[in-house]
Amino acid sequence: MTNTYDLHNPTIETLLNRRSIRAFADEAIPADVVDTLETVAQHAASSQYLNDWSAIRVTDPAAKASLAEIGHQPYIAQAPLLYVFVLDEHRNAAIAAAKGVDVDSDAFTLNGSYRYSQAQNDAVLALHAMETAAYSLGLGCVILGSLLNDVEGLIDLLALPKYTYPVLGLAIGKPAQEPTLKPRLPKSVQIFENTYAVDDETILSDIADFDADVHRYYDLRNTERPVDAFSDQIAKNAVAPMGAKVVEPLARKQGFRLDR
Ligand SMILES: Cc1cc2nc3c(=O)[nH]c(=O)nc-3n(C[C@H](O)[C@H](O)[C@H](O)COP(=O)(O)O)c2cc1C
Repeated sequence: MTNTYDLHNPTIETLLNRRSIRAFADEAIPADVVDTLETVAQHAASSQYLNDWSAIRVTDPAAKASLAEIGHQPYIAQAPLLYVFVLDEHRNAAIAAAKGVDVDSDAFTLNGSYRYSQAQNDAVLALHAMETAAYSLGLGCVILGSLLNDVEGLIDLLALPKYTYPVLGLAIGKPAQEPTLKPRLPKSVQIFENTYAVDDETILSDIADFDADVHRYYDLRNTERPVDAFSDQIAKNAVAPMGAKVVEPLARKQGFRLDR
């Protein structure tokens, strides 16, 4: 069959060239660009059309500095455009309550585990749409999980109400660096047909070459930085203490019931 698809269209090229940008030019993003990025995020798919996410654009320099402190990453404060995406059942709870739903009863399920995870999915999809749109305009981004170092501090700073929970930050700006693309896993260990058709022996043998690729990537990017092969990074992360990041008690404080 003749391939009539243009595999090198701008969307594919944008996605294949995506890499995290952690240094930004000191240049404001024009208001119409900001507006378009936000509209694009709103057009992402949404589970059951509940639209259960919100995004907070953080412009106050003091708040940006606090976020950089929480994340232990100075470039957060320097991002010309900065968002925190939150999963949000607060709005829907208010709407339901106004329609007569007793949101304090056991019948209320918007605060349950299924909605929590689907709202998180919604937030991530919206963030990713915004990220892709930003890259398509020649901007660069970094996603910020580091803001979850101090969820309580973040909730305080952003005044996040009941039935919301922070998901991720997104820093956007004109790139002031050109990192090389980071290698990705061989498809043999990540993409399967019909079933999870890979054994651990294959994983380990195919990862060996990938380890070497990752090792080379870091060598090119920062010669002063000690190199960690992918497997070593995984082993390190496998026992990383979670401390204040454990979700359940914090989510409970925000009104969620992850046990049901
Ligand atoms: C959920 C998530 C959280 C992340 N958190 C951070 C972060 O806090 N700080 C950071 O510098 N990069 C963060 N990143 C970026 C990853 O480190 C990056 O995507 C990964 O190393 C692959 O590199 P690449 O994006 O350049 O391809 C995050 C990415 C994701 C998807």
